[in-house]
Amino acid sequence: MESFPKTRLRRWRRTPASRALVRETRLSADRFVAPLFVKHGNRLREEISSLPGVFRLSPDEAVAEARAIAELSIPAVILFGLPDKKDETGSEAWDDRGAVQETAHRLKKELPDLLVIADVCLDEYTSHSHCGVVINGEVDNDATLPLLAKVAVSLARAGADVVAPSDMMDGRVGAIRSGLDAAGFPTLPIVSYAAKSASAFYGPFREAVDSAPKFGDRRGYQMDPANRREAMREIALDLEEGADAVMVKPALAYLDVIREARERFDAPIAAYNVSGEYAMVKAAAANGWVDEKRIVYEILTGIVRAGADFILTYHAKDAARWIREGSFTA
Ligand code: PBG
Repeated sequence: MESFPKTRLRRWRRTPASRALVRETRLSADRFVAPLFVKHGNRLREEISSLPGVFRLSPDEAVAEARAIAELSIPAVILFGLPDKKDETGSEAWDDRGAVQETAHRLKKELPDLLVIADVCLDEYTSHSHCGVVINGEVDNDATLPLLAKVAVSLARAGADVVAPSDMMDGRVGAIRSGLDAAGFPTLPIVSYAAKSASAFYGPFREAVDSAPKFGDRRGYQMDPANRREAMREIALDLEEGADAVMVKPALAYLDVIREARERFDAPIAAYNVSGEYAMVKAAAANGWVDEKRIVYEILTGIVRAGADFILTYHAKDAARWIREGSFTA
């Protein structure tokens, strides 16, 4: 047993150097994935009002942004697309000339070492904004699977290094794996959004891509936030179907899910520090109510401490800069 006065835990806390030596969780930029929103056009850079510092970018601007990201030693970006036209099935999602496809292609040409992850979903592309095909007023699981596989193959052909299905249809990892293998991409990894809750924290993202559902909500396919055991079943199923990494999303209200997943599974675990989590920090910081840098440090450290290997976060560039200057822990 540790006992006072022999044991004094404050001894290591006295100086920055001694704190650094015994710090249990260390952040580095190579844990971050920076999200990019892309749309057709040229020299477009529109700030998203609910996500200050995040932009809708045309492919040329996305390359410039990705260059700044890569220069900060962030290894990966994840691409989300806005279509020119939305339709019932979201067909622009598998258009080889879609904005994401074009951006992936250019990124691989100009920044070959940067890992390009492409989100696979239909919600940004469908007129009703649901993540699948709607039949008789319901999102039809099995009719959606072949479309998701088509999207993944189109993204792979465009140059994406990794695909990340976020739709929450049952069986989609298996369908995408078969589709990729059949199309000649057996080595392309799948990061599945395995434990994704139906969350109000996605609000700003839906404003960014105009994807708030036109009827109903996503509770028929995204998870009930209350269910941790079910989250473990989702993760186990996705791994069985061939997922190469699994994601927990959102992150902050779900740190227990990340922790349990870390203890149960040996696969890489990703966490998505989502748009609403970012927007809350930005709003409070803009009001002078919190110290943004210190809040971001605690949030990202907490997510890693919970067990995540990598984090999708809109704070990626700022955090990487603060890590580089050493100012996070100073
Ligand atoms: C679906 C998707 C969503 C997010 C990532 N992929 C939105 C949703 O499910 O409604 C949200 C990400 C965020 O809030 O930052 N394609």
